[in-house]
Amino acid sequence: MASDTYRYLAKYYDLLFEARRSYTSARKEIISPLLSQVESACDLCCGSGNFALLLAAKGIRTYAVDLSPDMCRLTRQKAKTANLKVEVIEADMRTFRLPQPVDLITCEYDALNHVPKKSDLDRVLRAAAKALTPGGHFVFDLNNRAAFATLWSNTWFIERDTVALVMQGEHEPGSDKAAVNVEWFVRGGKVWKRHHERIEEVCWRAAEIRNALKDAGFDQIKTWDAAPFFNDYHTPPGNRTFWRGRKKA
Ligand SMILES: C[S@@+](CC[C@H](N)C(=O)[O-])C[C@H]1O[C@@H](n2cnc3c(N)ncnc32)[C@H](O)[C@@H]1O
Repeated sequence: MASDTYRYLAKYYDLLFEARRSYTSARKEIISPLLSQVESACDLCCGSGNFALLLAAKGIRTYAVDLSPDMCRLTRQKAKTANLKVEVIEADMRTFRLPQPVDLITCEYDALNHVPKKSDLDRVLRAAAKALTPGGHFVFDLNNRAAFATLWSNTWFIERDTVALVMQGEHEPGSDKAAVNVEWFVRGGKVWKRHHERIEEVCWRAAEIRNALKDAGFDQIKTWDAAPFFNDYHTPPGNRTFWRGRKKA
């Protein structure tokens, strides 16, 4: 992803996307049982910063990493407004480094699918392992091929206040790549301005992810199908999987 990709998506992220989904049940099942052992955490690909703020509000020393300068700015602003300490780092998930290792890294909403190449999975997992304390956990959720074949082949229209967007999915059947072309229509006074953004994703088979986690030094690997957590038509069984791995103690 180019660092300017999440520009309009950053500006209107909370308005258009945040209200449309809830990670509460997934976090309760997958992350909450770990929290009594977590003194420090990093939300990788933090987006507009909402989960980083939640972690910081629990008294956890919190880092937030994202490649998009606009997302980083938003997260810093929100932390300041909420009077919470979140150290925001503009960095690529494949190469990020933290000032100190942390007990938990999260990477939500298929952010890890955004790497340019399938082979980048190894780089992200190694960077995460390096940034964790021994025994620390990495929790992430991924779109699977089934999501590319169904959701990412659709066209979506969303309209809120002065913004409308058409998201047109692109997926070649049988491939591990998908993209969405986003056409923005933003109203300022009587004038509508049009902007374009393109988001690309890659996906992996479960065995590829499991092997990559093991190779990067993770054990106690667990998965959860996302369907029961969301219970909506975007997330039928098999589309999205939550993964949790522990850096070997
Ligand atoms: C779908 S959003 C998810 C944001 C957030 N995790 C959430 O749950 O709302 C994907 C995020 O990944 C970030 N991103 C994409 N590629 C990245 C990369 N190579 N390194 C770091 N962040 C990246 C984008 O800027 C965006 O904020």
